[in-house]
Amino acid sequence: MSLFWKPGAEKPQLLDDEEGGVLFFSSSLSSSSSYGYASLEKQRQRLPVYKYRNSILYLVETHSTSIIVGETGSGKTTQIPRYLKEAGWAEGGRVIACTQPRRLAVQAVASRVAEEMGVKLGDEVGYTIRFEDLTNSELTRVKFLTDGVLLREMMTDPLLSKYSVIMVDEAHERSISTDILLGLLKKIQRRRPELRLIIASATIEAKSMAAFFDTSKKRRGSEDKQHGLKTEPAILSVEGRGYNVQVFYAEEPVPDYLRAAVSTVMSIHNQEPPGDILVFLTGQDDIDAAVELLTEEAQNNGKSSPGLTILPLYSGLSRADQDLVFSPTPRGKRKVVLSTNIAETSLTLEGVVYVVDSGFSKQRFYNPITDVENLIVAPISKASARQRAGRAGRVRPGKCYRLYTEEYYLKEMSTEGIPEIQRTSLVSSVIQLKALGIDNILGFDWPASPSPEAMIRALEVLYSLGVVDDDAKLTSPAGFQIAEIPLDPMISKMILASNELGCSEEILTIAAVLSIQSIWVSSRGSQKELDEAKMRFAAAEGDHVTFLNVYKGFLKCNKSPTWCHKNFVNYQAMKKVIEIREQLRRTAQRIGIILKSCDGDTQVVRKAVTAGYFANACRLEAFSHSGMYKTLRGSQEVYIHPSSILFRVNPKWILFHSLVSTDRQYMRNVITIDPAWLIEAAPHFYRHRQPDSFHQ
Ligand code: CDP
Ligand code: MG
Repeated sequence: MSLFWKPGAEKPQLLDDEEGGVLFFSSSLSSSSSYGYASLEKQRQRLPVYKYRNSILYLVETHSTSIIVGETGSGKTTQIPRYLKEAGWAEGGRVIACTQPRRLAVQAVASRVAEEMGVKLGDEVGYTIRFEDLTNSELTRVKFLTDGVLLREMMTDPLLSKYSVIMVDEAHERSISTDILLGLLKKIQRRRPELRLIIASATIEAKSMAAFFDTSKKRRGSEDKQHGLKTEPAILSVEGRGYNVQVFYAEEPVPDYLRAAVSTVMSIHNQEPPGDILVFLTGQDDIDAAVELLTEEAQNNGKSSPGLTILPLYSGLSRADQDLVFSPTPRGKRKVVLSTNIAETSLTLEGVVYVVDSGFSKQRFYNPITDVENLIVAPISKASARQRAGRAGRVRPGKCYRLYTEEYYLKEMSTEGIPEIQRTSLVSSVIQLKALGIDNILGFDWPASPSPEAMIRALEVLYSLGVVDDDAKLTSPAGFQIAEIPLDPMISKMILASNELGCSEEILTIAAVLSIQSIWVSSRGSQKELDEAKMRFAAAEGDHVTFLNVYKGFLKCNKSPTWCHKNFVNYQAMKKVIEIREQLRRTAQRIGIILKSCDGDTQVVRKAVTAGYFANACRLEAFSHSGMYKTLRGSQEVYIHPSSILFRVNPKWILFHSLVSTDRQYMRNVITIDPAWLIEAAPHFYRHRQPDSFHQ
């Protein structure tokens, strides 16, 4: 495929911002070849935040809340927590926290900071993400964690009393957990005025954030009496010197962004001077596919050009694979990193000179009318497009190739993304707030209000799950038990139900498998080989039961990597499953669940799944030859995903675990059910249905 490129017309040499000004992308690094070899200390001193060290510390000293805005890569995440530590904020056993919306970013920045400080990761500098705690309660002074984990910590320590400063990073992403966290931290500050907050972001509408935290609106400049602190937030903007990024647009709309991305990479590689390439795709599936395509093309291209190092970057990547992405490119080689939008602002890759932007990312969308939430490959906003382009201007002037037309950018792309809270199901958030004692959810001080419909739906689902009672209060003990498990309430309910049904061993395995992306190796061999491997474990009851077979096989072969390889099972993923299962087992036992196996009785296993996922029940449309299902609630059209064991089998009644959308809405991880179980599991939820719609 050959593409034709057109330089952006408006200001051909530069990216322009909404106001018509010029955006510079920060870098204070002077030479592209030296960055990998300069000492860590030198690299630190060259970062734009370095000059602001004292101002930042002064603001934190004197203000309850400081908002720090700085271009990605200016050193906010890796430097500010350390400055705070050096200034004494971790003395007396206190801890400095820095939150991130993404797990992979938490791991990557924590290990970088530990390396820079010359300490062992997990001692003085540590991190916590769900199912992985690399901190030491005695030693850890600087702690990186996901915003979700910090929310969970509030359940045991509502005032987060061990933290002296909490830096909420990547606030511009407006993840649902960030928004809830901001609302709660504002409350905590009223009780703990000495707690300092830093809100860090690449492009925040700093003013609206400041207004949200300004508790002194009517009394400008007022001070907190006891602590002499300014309650009006301070805003500091870190200026970075920048390199220009020249933007090119596709001349014609691109029919297949994956192929277009691959051919763009190849033409950059063949025609442009050295410099790494960063490609923005949407998720593990298309990244794996692109890695494969690109590897093939590079091999065909082999003789004419020096080698490409092709690397994927998405969450769930092993630590060793992450390290490859961050390590400097050897001379004479060119690195191509195929990434999700994690490289948009969360992580900076040095050495990138070319960016290829597909124009898409995977986003969660929830429709409260049909009560369906799914992951959709959706167009990004202009703000994201500009961030992506900026990644090319880190070490020297760069180029960004947008796989969409300029007209599309100007006329069709939205200016800003929608905060996650306005496009996801609120079930998990509502239960967390309730567990923290916040009952008036509608009256909660949200940075952006969720829709009342989504809120009502969430309460309805929680009511049907038996998590909240008629007064919308958490039920005891079920509601509190479910809130305690760090998983979606539906999964937690499934675990709770397994206790009564006597299949907790099996359900814990299923819960562990469902909490990772995939246990199959999809990037090796042909689809046919993979399908054949899957058939060795296939259960007629569906994917969940199939997982049990894989897990059994894995234990039986003594967790052998060779066995995994032979069976197209992802060894790393299985090791993770074992780890997660172990943690879930501990949590389950803590809340009084008795471990018991049902010894192959798949009916009770499926009943337990139904107890949690009744809302995702579907029926095959009669006379449908295309395998079309409709959800019982909302009558949404859905299809079984090709990766499912039940693809093309099309049993009449099924439940799905999640939905993904491409050209259609696909159900991932599906099991067969008996519709009678639905009324048993959730009489309230299905009460209004006509009895005949349940006839088989
Ligand atoms: O947070 P912000 O985007 O402002 O910058 P940062 O993440 O603190 O990055 C500062 C520098 O550390 C950049 O030059 C990154 O490339 C580098 N870094 C790294 O080399 N490896 C990591 N794992 C994280 C950051
Ligand atoms: Mg950062």
